[in-house]
Amino acid sequence: MGAGVSGNQGKPSILAGAGRGRAFDAETDAAALRLLEEQKHVFADWSSVRQSLENGAIIQGRDRNILDALVELDARLDLTAYTTTAKRLLQDATNKVNPLEGWTPSVPQGDLLEAHSEEWRAMERVGLREVGACAFVLVAGGLGERLGYDGIKVSLPAESTTGTCYLELYIKTILAFERRSATTQLPLCLMLSKDTEAATRALLKEHNNFGMRADQISFVVQAGVPALSDDKARFVLDHDNILCKPHGHGDVHSLLAQSGLPKKWLDRGLKRVFFFQDTNAFALRTLLPALGSAASRNLDVCSTCVERRAGEAMGALCLLKKDNKSLLKNVEYNQLEPLLLAATGKGDVETPSPYPGNTNQLIISLQGEHGYVATLERTGGNVPEFVNPKFNANRTFKKPARLECMMQDYPQLLQGGSVGFVTLSRKAVREYAPVKNSPASAIDKVKQGLDAHCASSGEADFYALHGDFLRCGRDVVIGGKEPGVYRGLSIEMPPRIVLSPSFALIEDDVISKVKGVTVKQGATLVIEGEGSVELEDVIVEEGSALRISTGEGVVLRVLGLKVANAGYRVEAPGVTKAEVIRGFRIVRRDETHLKFEEPGSYAVAPLDLSSDDEDEDDASRLPLILGAAAVAVLAVLLMRYRRIS
Ligand code: UTP
Repeated sequence: MGAGVSGNQGKPSILAGAGRGRAFDAETDAAALRLLEEQKHVFADWSSVRQSLENGAIIQGRDRNILDALVELDARLDLTAYTTTAKRLLQDATNKVNPLEGWTPSVPQGDLLEAHSEEWRAMERVGLREVGACAFVLVAGGLGERLGYDGIKVSLPAESTTGTCYLELYIKTILAFERRSATTQLPLCLMLSKDTEAATRALLKEHNNFGMRADQISFVVQAGVPALSDDKARFVLDHDNILCKPHGHGDVHSLLAQSGLPKKWLDRGLKRVFFFQDTNAFALRTLLPALGSAASRNLDVCSTCVERRAGEAMGALCLLKKDNKSLLKNVEYNQLEPLLLAATGKGDVETPSPYPGNTNQLIISLQGEHGYVATLERTGGNVPEFVNPKFNANRTFKKPARLECMMQDYPQLLQGGSVGFVTLSRKAVREYAPVKNSPASAIDKVKQGLDAHCASSGEADFYALHGDFLRCGRDVVIGGKEPGVYRGLSIEMPPRIVLSPSFALIEDDVISKVKGVTVKQGATLVIEGEGSVELEDVIVEEGSALRISTGEGVVLRVLGLKVANAGYRVEAPGVTKAEVIRGFRIVRRDETHLKFEEPGSYAVAPLDLSSDDEDEDDASRLPLILGAAAVAVLAVLLMRYRRIS
């Protein structure tokens, strides 16, 4: 099943010195000359280039630039291996060869966790303990062409109530993990590409790494691979250069192998590495139950899955069998249809699919014989490649193809070990809400009965998840959703609840911190910052907004607060590019803002409450500082009617 892999493993290029005075010998340089001959169409005058190479004459001008580009590509990729693999895979694609021919799929057995269950909470507790020994790898080198946004995706707001961008959300959550359960700094590595590197570094610099130490963040950068115009693997010119395209997120494993980072993480006592993608705001929230499940079962590799719908652009985990071989494999959606057709006579038609949908969040153990470090040392992290050319009616390519690779194919590098998955389920909202599609293509998806997976649906899902999370508290009432149409797409907008990772990471946190909270329809509740917040008897009236901001070291109790103000409004269509792709912006008309930055214990309560605290246990656990409480109450009174410009 495995295809060949590209990568020169540090060997010098067979084209070294081409056009720079080294004479190529027809016998000893036969492979180099054959490689160039196959790509002769990229030169203005191949016969004179060949003559100069054989004579050792210096080549000048445009053809020299092309030769230099080929030398660089060959040193990095081994172009002979790249084109050999490409020709084989492209010819198979042209001849419609099914790469999974002969393999029979069956539904794999994994763990299934339902939010709000005892089992879920138990796994979250294990996950929270284990996350203190995790490294994090964010793959963020993709172009994001489907989204129709020209900036980097990690700079987009995950929700526009606070405007927190994905990268900030991820970093703040990792820092919250660190504060809660680590004895050491938790490393974050970003895989970038030439399309995303400069802008991502600038975003981090502008925001002081969102609070993370510079030496905690590392980068690996993927380079493109040559685009191919036909099944002879002929390269394509882009002005006077060789056109290169992204090689896929599977590059992350070979780049990490070259970086030596996984070995350093293991030596520092870390146990696992978590891989996640650029625009899924739930990634680090779903990590904890998934990690609990992976750790409890001692898995070397664990994929996080959700229920899959028929025809969805999401890989399916299948147990594949052929002869006496059996493997748990992610089957991409374009390969699932022929595989199921061959096996059952019916294609990918069942919703929910019996095959779990892979969210591409991987938990991989660093240690042991089948661990990440040992596997990278043995394989260089080169996962199998594939091609996906789009054909015209006459079987020519619609646009240039290239070899690609996927990070979820990592288990194919293992020789044994335990590979598994966990499926996460939540009634209120699916545990996967990536932002990948433009509004127009989201409308098409919805017409097909699929998730929109665009910026507006991702934002509504964000609030739905946070509202459902808050519901773990005692006597919590979350108001109904407000219907709206944004860029032609119908969205049901839940009350806009944004809970910082410091407020709650697991359901137990909400259970212990929330009692009697109502957030009515169209209302906003934001809990932001690094402090600890408890809510008791809090009502945010319809359309009103309550924002609670705390600094590190603050312990705040909000008791008996009723908020009624003009709140925040969702207004179409939006002005900035980030707003335009979701079709709305959030306008802050009024809010009640409780802000506590100085470390200490505070309470916000009706003025008479300091003498009326019935809960003796709670009072002894959290000292109510009367002076601070009085200031806090004053703050409420002052801010309740404050207009926001
Ligand atoms: P997507 O499948 O969303 O691809 O990538 P994309 O390139 O970002 O978007 P489209 O297809 O052009 O619309 C899933 C994840 O893999 C990363 C992306 O940044 C995203 O986090 N990725 C993708 C890479 O890091 N490198 C790649 O070459 C491709």
